[in-house]
Amino acid sequence: MPVRVLVTRRFPDIAARLLKEAKLDVTEWQEERLMTVAELVTGARKHNAVLCTLTERIDKEFLQQCRHLQIISQFGVGYDNINVAEATALGIPVGNTPGVLTDATADLAFTLMLSVARKTFHLHKSILKGEWKYFQPTRDLGLELKGKTLGIFGMGRIGVEMALRCKGAYGMNVVYHNAKRNEANEALTGARYVTFAELLTTSDVISVHSVLNSETRGIFNKAAFYWMKPTAIFINTARGAIHNESDLTEALRSKKIWGAGLDVTNPEPMLPGNPLLSMENVAVLPHVGSGTLEARTEMARLAATNVIEFYRSGKVPHCVNPEVLRSRS
Ligand code: GLV
Repeated sequence: MPVRVLVTRRFPDIAARLLKEAKLDVTEWQEERLMTVAELVTGARKHNAVLCTLTERIDKEFLQQCRHLQIISQFGVGYDNINVAEATALGIPVGNTPGVLTDATADLAFTLMLSVARKTFHLHKSILKGEWKYFQPTRDLGLELKGKTLGIFGMGRIGVEMALRCKGAYGMNVVYHNAKRNEANEALTGARYVTFAELLTTSDVISVHSVLNSETRGIFNKAAFYWMKPTAIFINTARGAIHNESDLTEALRSKKIWGAGLDVTNPEPMLPGNPLLSMENVAVLPHVGSGTLEARTEMARLAATNVIEFYRSGKVPHCVNPEVLRSRS
């Protein structure tokens, strides 16, 4: 019996091509909508492996109904949609695609920072509304970034790249906060480790690059925004649930902070009537951090390779629960 792989979305062609070249039997979801929970369970039950992404809820209920799965391969670096503890308990390895979307995501965080600092989304919308009448010396003024302090929340690969961009472009002074100090990344960036409280009070720009877990969920809340500078810009390209969206909206309305740039929202998708979308100092994008041809192609290649290598050699090149593989060998 050939190995059957359920591919839950239309990923870049390379994913299905590599799987087929490896003689795996591939079923690709072709519809322009997400699979429902029931469709995902029914589909997965007919397959040995699932290649999925952040929109699929691979939770305890799903896993309990699909205990037969041999591997779950995530197209993405984050995997908070997957209950990894449960997958591990069931002996199912979970793969992901780290590294290949680092530059794309750091570029997007940098884009959002500049867009907020210069109110570019708002100014573009004002032209569309016919509001560009004449040069106005005192209206819609932005902020400069040269020599300011960047606070990285989550100094992993993407945090490092954002820090290097900000240092290179504006000589920004970089501080960071992580659950644990990361001395290797301090050496790469010259960043100084600070407490969360110090990150909030000293940063002119805070850029979120951490994983979403029980410690980071909702950590940017009313109290956090209260301690930030009134001139501060908040950027989140990691996961929307790391900030509390109504607290953020209120902090912007009451000018506790100056602006925000979001590539991730809570919930997603953000609805068109959301008040953040009509605020001058806010820039919102629809979760496109990894959205370059290069990054998405490499993500598809890695996600497929995780499955192929598992069946070829028993190894998953990028595995988030390698203890499952160790206990098999
Ligand atoms: C995208 O958000 C990812 O985690 O890859």
